[in-house]
Amino acid sequence: MGNVICVGGQWGDEGKGKMVDILSERCDMVVRFQGGNNAGHTLVVNGVKTVLHLIPSGVLHPKTKCIIASGVVIDPAVLLHEIDTLKSRNLLRDDSQLIISPLCHIIFPYHKKLDLARENALGKQMIGTTGRGIGPAYEDRAGRRGIRFFEMMDTDKLTKRLREAALYSNAVLRALGADLLNDNEIESMIELAIAHGQKLKPFMGNAQDIIFHAMQKQENILFEGAQGALLDLDHGTYPYVTSSHCVAGHAMAGSGVGFTSPYQVIMVAKAYATRVGSGPFPTELNDEAGASLRQRGSEFGATTGRPRRCGWLDLVALRYACRIHGATSLAITKLDILAGMEKLQVCSAYEINGKRTEDFLWDTDKLDEVIPIYEEMPGFGVLPLKGTSLAQLPKEAQNYLNKIVDFAGVPLGVVSLGPERGQEIWEHEPYSARNS
Ligand code: IMP
Repeated sequence: MGNVICVGGQWGDEGKGKMVDILSERCDMVVRFQGGNNAGHTLVVNGVKTVLHLIPSGVLHPKTKCIIASGVVIDPAVLLHEIDTLKSRNLLRDDSQLIISPLCHIIFPYHKKLDLARENALGKQMIGTTGRGIGPAYEDRAGRRGIRFFEMMDTDKLTKRLREAALYSNAVLRALGADLLNDNEIESMIELAIAHGQKLKPFMGNAQDIIFHAMQKQENILFEGAQGALLDLDHGTYPYVTSSHCVAGHAMAGSGVGFTSPYQVIMVAKAYATRVGSGPFPTELNDEAGASLRQRGSEFGATTGRPRRCGWLDLVALRYACRIHGATSLAITKLDILAGMEKLQVCSAYEINGKRTEDFLWDTDKLDEVIPIYEEMPGFGVLPLKGTSLAQLPKEAQNYLNKIVDFAGVPLGVVSLGPERGQEIWEHEPYSARNS
């Protein structure tokens, strides 16, 4: 099977990093197609933790090509730091393993300033962004004033573009009542951008073309999504969303290829729910139970360290996510975190204005008001660390998984029982073997 798109089915942090890592062992290529360093993918290999923000999680497999495609926004300082860290750990041994599209838009220091200034101006209505400049960089892209990766290689042009960008940003910052970029900051930003461009130059490659030819050769390609369905710019809980499209359908636009062969969509979802930042979260637990899930699941942001809001699994939202992604299988992660809890709850409907609905609500204010209707399920005890068949799980854990699958109407692909490679049970493996 050639193309697999791996995407998040909740509000991000579903454990996609681990899934991409294990899938990419059998892949020729992993393509990241949206988002930026707002994402944080935590991988644990032989007890060693690696957190990646931009470089596709497939990088831990030396034979897997890693592509940062045009839909991604890049903070060059963060990318260089990630490259250096990987190299210092004897990973990314060959520069040709990483290819960056010339069309990626670049995040500059003024984007971060604008991000924070906008959040401050919003006060209580703030989005709770990661503060990494993601939104303003995508705004510049849509406003047709963004600076793309290949433009970093032309010193004169880059200098001119950055001076213009600084003027524009200062006008917006002034309107927002924020500190402006001073002349020194502008000059050092230009100097640094030129240096970053030169350091990253060896990684620039015609990503579209490379992916196209890999597809023609029917290589195993994995498209790695960031964030999750409910943070999608259009289909998530707008305006409490990120600024890119996280849905599987965007894998094509964000990579610059059209899919001419069949593909699968693996939607990753945690066995419970979390969210960082503001916005509606119908099944949020603001009590001991929520705090306990946070502790058990180490639910603290991989990018910002913020404590994640925690709650029960929302099946209404999960089914909605399956539909907007076109999920062909589910990857349920962190089932082990629920082990030992006496009773579990899953939300299978909402109540709004005294009426019951099983539909996700597009009006974010109304979604904020819904009362979740729960079904109680018996908990389960200790899970095996690994296994080969779902039958090895306690009956109650099997019932919990069946409940999810039946409600979502999408089959189970894999269930993850811990952070390490191998701690998972496959029902259906998308790749049979590496092509080479
Ligand atoms: P931004 O993407 O930094 O603009 O943040 C917009 C919203 O998306 C905020 O609520 C963030 O917390 C959330 N967000 C962005 N990236 C991630 C992620 O990788 N995991 C979870 N939440 C995220």
